[in-house]
Amino acid sequence: MSTAARPRVLETIGEVREVVAEERAAGRRVSLTPTLGALHDGHLVHLSRAAELVDTRIVSIFVNPLQFGPNEDLAKYPRTLDADLDRLGQLGVPFVFAPSAAEMYPDGPPSIRVHAGRIGELYEGRSRPGHFDGVLTVVAKLLLIVGPDVVTFGQKDAQQLFLVRRMIDDLNIPVRLEAIEIVREEDGLALSSRNRYLEVKERRAARTLSLALEAAASSADQGIDAVVAAAQGTLMGEPLVELDYLKIVDPETFLPTDDGYRGPALVLVAAKVGGTRLIDNERISLAG
Ligand code: PAJ
Repeated sequence: MSTAARPRVLETIGEVREVVAEERAAGRRVSLTPTLGALHDGHLVHLSRAAELVDTRIVSIFVNPLQFGPNEDLAKYPRTLDADLDRLGQLGVPFVFAPSAAEMYPDGPPSIRVHAGRIGELYEGRSRPGHFDGVLTVVAKLLLIVGPDVVTFGQKDAQQLFLVRRMIDDLNIPVRLEAIEIVREEDGLALSSRNRYLEVKERRAARTLSLALEAAASSADQGIDAVVAAAQGTLMGEPLVELDYLKIVDPETFLPTDDGYRGPALVLVAAKVGGTRLIDNERISLAG
């Protein structure tokens, strides 16, 4: 049993505004780390980084219905608030914003939303129509509710990070976006709340995603065709992995790299392992 004080749980927008006003009046800087909960070490590194940048860290835990498609895992998404609060208490996080859906969307799904645009319709957005509009809408609301100095987002969800950065720029939201590197298991699997859905055999097969990215990175000096062949070869060697997409994108634009492109690129992969959809990515430097 830990003796660390648990964070204070704020359930209403009014409470959050009050707390943030008090922190600011005391001269303290504030960060926000938005999450869906079911916290793992990949989430917790955001808080170590935030501790270096601000005085008061706030974590939001909200399973945002707007970003789940009709056939997705909204109902079964893991909800582990008790355990989450224990872990955040151990890190000295003082506040958690855990609103109900009615607090965030009192009139039901909002008719006015942030539209993620063309990039929001590619890759993840193609497989999950409306997903990024749902993400950006809730992130915009959270930023307006909390008004943090710093907000953290993970490179694990590279397209989400790109779109949030673009929204902050396009809408002139006054916040510093801090990108956090991907935290991985020992065998390379990127930590994800959805990993807990994996059965033993699937868990073993799931490492193929990061293996494919490693294979891609080691072929980067031979050009894009070699990168794709290396990654695809690895993925096809694992029958439990059903590839959704494998894409090489320009990190500046998030558009697919043109033929003959050289320079920094991002390899994106999404696949189903059993019934569980997993995503991962890695930076490479394309030559050849
Ligand atoms: P969630 O999947 O809970 O992730 C919360 C944050 O943790 C995101 O910024 C995500 O990129 C980051 N993260 C997840 N796995 C990580 C890992 N292995 N290493 C480092 N960071 C990791 O992403 C969402 O929630 C939601 O879409 C949200 C932004 C909260 C909007 O509802």
